[in-house]
Amino acid sequence: MVEDLRLDSLEGVGPVTTRKLSDAGVHNVMDLIVRGPVEIAEITGMEKETAEKIVNKARQHLVETGLISRDFVTATEVYKRRQDIGKITTGTNCLDTLFDGGIETQALTEVYGEFGSGKTQFAHTLAVMVQKPKSEGGLDGGVLYIDTENTFRPERIVSIAQAHEMDPEKVLDRIIVARAYNSAHQTLILEEAGPVIEENNIKLIVADSAVGLFRAEYLGRGTLSNRQQKLNHFVHMLSRIAETYNCAAVATNQVMASPDVFFGDPTRPIGGNVVAHTSTYRVYFKKSGKKRIARMVDSPHHPEEEVLFALGEAGVMDIEDAEKKPGKKTAKKATKKDKEPDTVESVELETVESAKLEDKSAEDSDDLESMEE
Ligand SMILES: Nc1ncnc2c1ncn2[C@@H]1O[C@H](COP(=O)(O)OP(=O)(O)O)[C@@H](O)[C@H]1O
Ligand SMILES: [Mg+2]
Repeated sequence: MVEDLRLDSLEGVGPVTTRKLSDAGVHNVMDLIVRGPVEIAEITGMEKETAEKIVNKARQHLVETGLISRDFVTATEVYKRRQDIGKITTGTNCLDTLFDGGIETQALTEVYGEFGSGKTQFAHTLAVMVQKPKSEGGLDGGVLYIDTENTFRPERIVSIAQAHEMDPEKVLDRIIVARAYNSAHQTLILEEAGPVIEENNIKLIVADSAVGLFRAEYLGRGTLSNRQQKLNHFVHMLSRIAETYNCAAVATNQVMASPDVFFGDPTRPIGGNVVAHTSTYRVYFKKSGKKRIARMVDSPHHPEEEVLFALGEAGVMDIEDAEKKPGKKTAKKATKKDKEPDTVESVELETVESAKLEDKSAEDSDDLESMEE
């Protein structure tokens, strides 16, 4: 562990407190910030005031060592800190365009869409691409992959790595998979992630899916607020970890495709407002025959736009690469071929229409959950 991050490097934190904290899974100064005073008090049985003092000290300490920014900073400093933001290429031209270069660190990116829309394939692709050197659009970093649906497949990692001319064995080695069996376990994994992130230079954390287990375990209206509270805790922690450790966080969220199957808005992300309000970026994936559409829904600085992509051996792919020869990817700089313009247009029109409908129904049904949140 970096010397600066040791709990006992904080003034007034002796062996007893250190012990108390590490018993509760808080192993370093970063963890203190990530968990926050309320939770620290809860898990250690400390007085709330004491916990506040310790967390404030931790914050001060990290400011002094230059690891995080002060509470009041000039826009210049914010701008400087944003210069540290890394981007992970998606391995495609189309999605890189949508994300303006790639998936950002210090941010939570939510990907929502119906079953089979490519969320898991996207996450697998990123888990490979983040390992590329910086000169090739990666961050030369490792991955923490929280798998809640048992859909992580090392075989897919191998073929994606091969398609990108990377050594599959090395790539597999740098992905740490945490299989979560229930929502409490999923939360625990994140709570204990600090040292793992540091030791393995993790630059990407995937929660696939972030919401599924919470949804399955908390059924019915009576438990809604409880579910949202727990989910809120998980998602906030994810986003704080992304900020403090300067890594990218990607959370997937499934929406129902058919209005007949379940009650409620068919195309609304299950996580409701909780995930949406916490994410920095939100992308909507949609099936369109064999192709897929990705739409940037909410972003502080991206225009709302959409692109077409494909799924194949190489994970998420540019349409022209996928159509060329399954599994073979052209060099990234290859010039874009004309893609039958009328197909693209008709698909886009259709999405714009459905997007309008969807936004409207999302507004209508938001009230219920926001009241209970
Ligand atoms: N090896 C592969 N080659 C081509 N397409 C694949 C491959 N593996 C999965 N897919 C595509 O990915 C789809 C599943 O995507 P997935 O990411 O699991 O969806 P989601 O996580 O959104 O439910 C499948 O329907 C299939 O079209
Ligand atoms: Mg999936």
